[in-house]
Amino acid sequence: MVKMMRKRKISYGRQTITKDDIKAVTDVLRSDWLSQGPKIREFEEALCRYTGAKYAVAVSNGTAALHMACLAAGIAPGDEVITSPVTFLASANCVVYCGGTPVFADIDEETVNIDPAAIEKKISARTKALIPVHFAGHPADMAAIRRIARKRKLLVIEDACHALGAEYRGKKIGGGAYSDMTVFSFHPVKNITTGEGGAILTNRKDLYERLQIFRTHGMTKTPRLLTRNDGPWYYEMPVLGYNYRITDLQCALGVSQLRKLDRFLDQRRTHVETYHALLAQDSRFILPVEKKDVKAAWHIFVIQFKDAALRDRTFQALLREGILPQVHYIPIHLQPYYQKRFGYRRGQFPFAEQYYERAMTLPLYPQLRKCDVRHVVQTLIKVLA
Ligand SMILES: Cc1ncc(COP(=O)(O)O)c(C=O)c1O
Repeated sequence: MVKMMRKRKISYGRQTITKDDIKAVTDVLRSDWLSQGPKIREFEEALCRYTGAKYAVAVSNGTAALHMACLAAGIAPGDEVITSPVTFLASANCVVYCGGTPVFADIDEETVNIDPAAIEKKISARTKALIPVHFAGHPADMAAIRRIARKRKLLVIEDACHALGAEYRGKKIGGGAYSDMTVFSFHPVKNITTGEGGAILTNRKDLYERLQIFRTHGMTKTPRLLTRNDGPWYYEMPVLGYNYRITDLQCALGVSQLRKLDRFLDQRRTHVETYHALLAQDSRFILPVEKKDVKAAWHIFVIQFKDAALRDRTFQALLREGILPQVHYIPIHLQPYYQKRFGYRRGQFPFAEQYYERAMTLPLYPQLRKCDVRHVVQTLIKVLA
């Protein structure tokens, strides 16, 4: 019998776009506003309603959101900001953009999130802020992080790019119960997408006002912030800002996607349960955990191979089989730029490095079918044989 060939490649992540998303975007295309119209505010308000935050500023991408959060936090040359080495480059680059120094604290082996005990060891007189990253959508230990921040008078910026929809101790990530600002990304593989996009959420009005100014070149028309007023056209630039604006087209997609977020999260969780059911008994793997006091948003599904050499071999073999895994992430302190500029060396963060050698991200997105998950696992077992 001729075996059916699977033509479709299965990637580690992808967007879910449905008819209502397409209609939402085409409606904007037919409207008067493509860019700075009513959809931006609508999306920001929807994000606030969903998370419980008071204010949201939607921007062009998650990296811009992190940069603006650091600017609003006043990060400047001489300041140190502590973050995880196991994250996307942007979580540390945002500090460098402001002239600050990213300082890494090793991860907790079990959750892959920054370890609060490691943070404490890295605090110096120059430390100004902490950027915990909710890795793979599993919230970091925010109660411990907030305790440290309060004791040492530090700002906390949550990098929640993986974690829209996650909960920590019964509260939605983004609501700001444990931090000053929370940053999201809406890149296509994230839990919802706007194509490219990001947002900063906060409960502090002062930060909200500064963020709005940084988004548009540092310009303001707010009368109380002007030094004079030449007329109705008048604006001033009190600080240096950027063009980090998002468009109405993107925000229309964001509003439509956000309506479906809870369904997307349920679908992700169902796939995670299938992976667990099929892989839990296999002693070659370490599977991701979900701690009791959190609800993970399951942005990515990362398994670890106890035998690191097997990871490399398996990755290649899966590619040949049409399954496209990933490795999230190469620890940032191993990047040539960080080694040259800040003197980081291999061996400084043993848990991060061990994790990197073992980790592989398997496909996880809402529109996967149960048979796809089974196929991924069967192929994984087959190539390991
Ligand atoms: C943890 C983390 N931080 C920041 C970013 C940056 O987001 P964006 O790609 O929207 O700029 C990403 C996205 O890949 C991310 O995964």
